[in-house]
Amino acid sequence: MPAPPRKRHLPNVAVLRVGHRPSRDPRLTTHVALAARALGASRMYLHPPDPELAERIAAVARRWGGNFEIVGVPSWKPVLDEYRGGVVHLTMYGEPLDRTIPRLRRARRLLLVVGGAKVPSALFESADHNVAVGSQPHSEVAALAVVLDRLLGRVPTSRFSGADRRIVPQRRGKRVVPSRNRKGR
Ligand SMILES: C[S@@+](CC[C@H](N)C(=O)[O-])C[C@H]1O[C@@H](n2cnc3c(N)ncnc32)[C@H](O)[C@@H]1O
Repeated sequence: MPAPPRKRHLPNVAVLRVGHRPSRDPRLTTHVALAARALGASRMYLHPPDPELAERIAAVARRWGGNFEIVGVPSWKPVLDEYRGGVVHLTMYGEPLDRTIPRLRRARRLLLVVGGAKVPSALFESADHNVAVGSQPHSEVAALAVVLDRLLGRVPTSRFSGADRRIVPQRRGKRVVPSRNRKGR
């Protein structure tokens, strides 16, 4: 009998969002966090901290499950220095993703760093890898989504345990039902 296909071990992935401007970027950074959570990251470090945004994402996790959290950080450098895993800075100036993805997939832990309007040049030096999703300018949400999908693929629904509710996918319309594995049941 042929051996069953070996299950690929998936890296634990955290995200660091630098250069957030609380008064100008709340929607964009919220989308970075929502994409990170939905596509399998375990947490997002946010520089500088934004407690209102962190609370909005915590409310999403209470409704839709999982343990994703936002950790506000007053400076980004110590996060990189203290991270026990590979640091991957997403930048249009980096090496092509296709070339780096086989190496990244072998890692146990990865920190994906995305910037905002201005990216400190020290980030390029501090990262283990500078990785481009195409050598054209686009967006932190798009870059993060592509890399998470290429790294982790489909995220198991078990990652979102403890949800209040769940979506029953429909060809048309919306169907949301109470979740069977709600917290406190
Ligand atoms: C609006 S861009 C910032 C560009 C900025 N002018 C700079 O110095 O790089 C915001 C973020 O989107 C991400 N990004 C944009 N285009 C990218 C690409 N082609 N590949 C990877 N990441 C990209 C990067 O993380 C970047 O820091």
